Amino acid sequence: MRGAIALAAAVLGAGLAVSGAQAQAPKLKVGLMLPYSGTYAALGTAIENGFRLYVTEQGGRISGREVEYFKVDDESDPAKATDNVNKLVKRDNVDVLVGTVHSGVAMAMAKVAKDNDTLLIIPNAGAVAVTGPMCGQTIFRSSFSNWQPGYAMGEVAAKRGHRKAVTITWKYAAGDESAGGFKEAFEKGGGQVVKELSLPFPNVEFQPLLTEIASIKPDVVYTFFAGGGAVKFVKDYAAAGLKKSIPLYGAGFITDGTLEAQGADADGLLTTLHYGDGLDNAKDKAFRASYERAYKMAPDVYAVQGYDAAQMLAIGLDAAKGDVGRKADMGDRRRDQGACRPGPRLPHVRHGHSDLPGPVP
Ligand code: BEZ
Repeated sequence: MRGAIALAAAVLGAGLAVSGAQAQAPKLKVGLMLPYSGTYAALGTAIENGFRLYVTEQGGRISGREVEYFKVDDESDPAKATDNVNKLVKRDNVDVLVGTVHSGVAMAMAKVAKDNDTLLIIPNAGAVAVTGPMCGQTIFRSSFSNWQPGYAMGEVAAKRGHRKAVTITWKYAAGDESAGGFKEAFEKGGGQVVKELSLPFPNVEFQPLLTEIASIKPDVVYTFFAGGGAVKFVKDYAAAGLKKSIPLYGAGFITDGTLEAQGADADGLLTTLHYGDGLDNAKDKAFRASYERAYKMAPDVYAVQGYDAAQMLAIGLDAAKGDVGRKADMGDRRRDQGACRPGPRLPHVRHGHSDLPGPVP
């Protein structure tokens, strides 16, 4: 009996020692660099919500370290990106950067992260370069590359018998790569992109381009827009009378998080994406229920990617025993030998993502 009491005391003592050590572990400083204003503002908020939800579910800790947040509104402005990311890296001294939505801003973040050996998890921006030519041991992505949904839709459009397409998008990496993916698969399938229309980000003066589409009369239009711009584009497309005669296809960002605001104008639109809200798996159902309880609204793809970014951080940091200095233990060791490839490789997060067809660019 005395032995049992001694053992219980020893176990209790060990428990106290562990929680004492946890309490002393330095806080994990997470720098959220996201758009909180402008056309992508809702996307940034959804990503932060998803990220915080996962951390809250873990008792506010990742790898035993209490999470402390630092925030910068990047305004989706590449011209301000280097200064903005330096606020988090040099002023706030964060352990990990999480961001962002806009590909141009993400490329600047990746450069600063690389130069300073800071961990970066990208929860949206699909710029091919950040996990391609710019890839590195400290750079991870919990989303997609811009090329992927476009390529998938190019295949679908060709298989549905369309032959003459027009693409329309914002003129920056995301739009170019998305439309490029579409064109690649569409033309492989026997179609032809006869006109590539674009306007500068975040311009929403679509009317002259819609007039041009009406005069070209393609049998399908492929588009990449997101956030506030996506709402306006879908409404303008319908108001111009094009919805009745020319099917509108797009990367799923055209309707994700925006469908409610688009209303009936989005009816009949066809999209491809790496996530869908009707997924039938337990993990995704639990996530959606938890998100709806916490925020009183349904999650979208951006919320999923934020949640997955936090899971990714937890898996990587656990592998490094909570030490952000042990970068080589967090990911795929092949990265060290220059074997980076686009898309999230390791650590692998299971959520609801389905693999998109087609080769990795
Ligand atoms: C991008 O800039 O990479 C992007 C922005 C919004 C949705 C998807 C991609």
